[in-house]
Amino acid sequence: MAISNNGKFYNYNQTSKFNMHPITEAIRIRTEQTNEMEHSSPLFLTSSFCFDNTEEMRAAFADETDDNIYSRFSNPTVQEFVDRICALEGAETGYATASGMSAVFASFMTFLKKGDHLISCNAIFGSTHTIITKYLPKYGIEYTYVPAGNPETWASAIRPNTKMIYIETPTNPGLDIIDLEFAGKLARENKIILNVDNCFATPVNQTPIKYGADIVLHSATKWIDGQGRVLGGVIVGKKELIHEIYLYCRSTGPALSPFNAWVLSKSIETLDVRMERHASNALYIAQKLENHSKVFWLKYPYLQSHPQHAIALKQMKNGGGIICFDLKGGLESGRKFLDNLKILSLTANLGDTRSIASHPASTTHAKLTEEERLAVNITPGLIRISVGLEHRDDILNDIMQTLEKC
Ligand SMILES: Cc1ncc(COP(=O)(O)O)c(C=O)c1O
Repeated sequence: MAISNNGKFYNYNQTSKFNMHPITEAIRIRTEQTNEMEHSSPLFLTSSFCFDNTEEMRAAFADETDDNIYSRFSNPTVQEFVDRICALEGAETGYATASGMSAVFASFMTFLKKGDHLISCNAIFGSTHTIITKYLPKYGIEYTYVPAGNPETWASAIRPNTKMIYIETPTNPGLDIIDLEFAGKLARENKIILNVDNCFATPVNQTPIKYGADIVLHSATKWIDGQGRVLGGVIVGKKELIHEIYLYCRSTGPALSPFNAWVLSKSIETLDVRMERHASNALYIAQKLENHSKVFWLKYPYLQSHPQHAIALKQMKNGGGIICFDLKGGLESGRKFLDNLKILSLTANLGDTRSIASHPASTTHAKLTEEERLAVNITPGLIRISVGLEHRDDILNDIMQTLEKC
């Protein structure tokens, strides 16, 4: 039994009778087998569900039963995906959304109202920055940005109306690491919701709930899908908080498509093994590039040179699949680098089997001012590599040969 997104128990298979490792649970949890006895999970591609009579339907609408009503509220295929993420994150329950951004937005809109205050780490994904600075103020929600690399200053940003602390760790794209234990303690002591975007690390590498996060969210579009096919998002955490998110989403409609949920759920079965290879490839390449003559600095959480290396070792199982480095030649070299790559893709995604190079200053973080970019270490020559599953020497050679031209 798991807890469904409406906060009640949801029935699937026999799996939970056994005490299993979260990785095993995430692979074995599944929607109940149909009479066809299929091995792979069925896909419930349906908008709504039927009832035998008005009394059953009344009871479902009155929340007296767990029956599915409509796929904007719940769907067995989507629930399987949510339950698998909950197993990995150590969460009580969750709700899946159409994209990572709808998860971020729902997590803000559910808990913040006019007059409330949000503390956010300043190093966050570009569209999250847009929500915080452009849209939340329209609803009278105030915010304060705090520096990712300087958590000692965060306590002074807390006000009586502070309702939430929002962080990403590692941050996108600067790879700052935030001490989750510290953030968890600060939030707990001040009775503030700690909301963590765990997209970069993935739940097989880092579990923020263990350190006190109240809600954890993901862009499942990235490593969780892992093959650049579908968009998706998910929010997991404490039952009473997720129930509020469920009520918000049930009415406002950012539900995940059952088809995408089916794809993402299958991907979870290989997430742990994929992330190990992404991380070992990334560490190998980071070590080879660290002292390259064209590279000003390089960051990878599992390199000793990373400023928060000790925190990364404490809370992450490996260094993840992203490396970033600053080219000495600045903006012009950044452009040349992208234009001369032979294998790596130039595309607005990360977390794929195929390695991807990006130039945040001219793309994902272009909406920030130059000053805002520099505040979060997005220099004009910053290159972000999402290290794929190709042979590590092919990825490295493409980068090395391209650097010669920069
Ligand atoms: C850290 C982080 N959070 C959220 C998102 C948004 O996710 P999506 O593109 O699925 O809406 C992204 C996208 O790159 C991201 O990198």
